[in-house]
Amino acid sequence: MYSTSLLSLLAVPLTALAFPTTSLSTRQELESLHDKYVAAGKQYFGTIADEALLADEQNVGIIQQVFGQLTAENSMKWESIQPTLGGFNFAQPDVLVDFATANNMLIRGHTLIWHSQLPQYVSDITDAAELTEVIETHISEIMGRYVGKIFQWDVVNEIFNEDGSFRDSVFFNVLGEDFVRIAFEAAKAADPDAKLYINDFNLDSADNAKVQAMVTNVNKWVAEGVPIDGIGSQAHIAAGQGSAIPDAIKALAAADVAEVAITELDIADAPAEDYQQSVDACTQEPKCVGVTVWGVRDNDSWRPGTNPLLFDATGQPKEAYNTLVSNL
Ligand SMILES: *[C@@H]1O[C@H](CO)[C@@H](O)[C@H](O)[C@H]1NC(C)=O
Repeated sequence: MYSTSLLSLLAVPLTALAFPTTSLSTRQELESLHDKYVAAGKQYFGTIADEALLADEQNVGIIQQVFGQLTAENSMKWESIQPTLGGFNFAQPDVLVDFATANNMLIRGHTLIWHSQLPQYVSDITDAAELTEVIETHISEIMGRYVGKIFQWDVVNEIFNEDGSFRDSVFFNVLGEDFVRIAFEAAKAADPDAKLYINDFNLDSADNAKVQAMVTNVNKWVAEGVPIDGIGSQAHIAAGQGSAIPDAIKALAAADVAEVAITELDIADAPAEDYQQSVDACTQEPKCVGVTVWGVRDNDSWRPGTNPLLFDATGQPKEAYNTLVSNL
């Protein structure tokens, strides 16, 4: 009697340790888009996360079953990771990197040089030498911390306007387009093995002026020796745009870079056909290494009310997910 109750007392915590309690929806069997994409010859199929999303058990369950690559949603952006000059905050990105590493997932670093989510102290710099040093230190500190752990970096993000001209930013205004060379050279020095990307949005149609500007400028920089490995197409699109993505990816892949990737895919209302067309665009392009969707569940999306993801707000897979599973 006594020993039995001792045993059952013991059995509870042991069982709990071996089989952490999970909600029903987390336990549901989901097929891995990542495994299927790797079997199709690609490097990864991924999504985003950060500390809060990695504390959400249902979200973690889906990530572990379905995805093989993580991008930090916000924690590696300048305002988060170096909010004050020299004051680096690695606590949140460490959570992402540690989770991904423990789960054998690849990591895309996002993003080093971007005009948005940028602290005022950077925007206030007017001296070229000072800004160069701040850029170089930002990149070497961050990439240095995660050297060998982050396989791709978005070194510069959203540097073009829709008409293909350079976006107005402290980087362009103070340094001209040379900020691109400065950033890529600092990145190459910090982690010679990481794949270094230029990333942008609205690269979703081959005849967009921005696509042409991307290819022309990247070819010029590569010819000048700037170490650019890849072009990232964010692909935040609307329903009906999926059919244009294959030609757009082909146009980007025609640039003098080793690889391209779809880096932030989400599609308003998540039509299965548009998801399939967008993923097919990468599948069919030999230079395309993988696809990242920008979120797991609709209610966690940065596009509220548009339900652009593969899982609904209760964590149930949507038609677009099922379609990708059947066709990959
Ligand atoms: C989305 O829904 C899940 C439960 O289905 C919840 O745990 C999570 O916090 C929600 N996200 C947001 C941003 O409200």
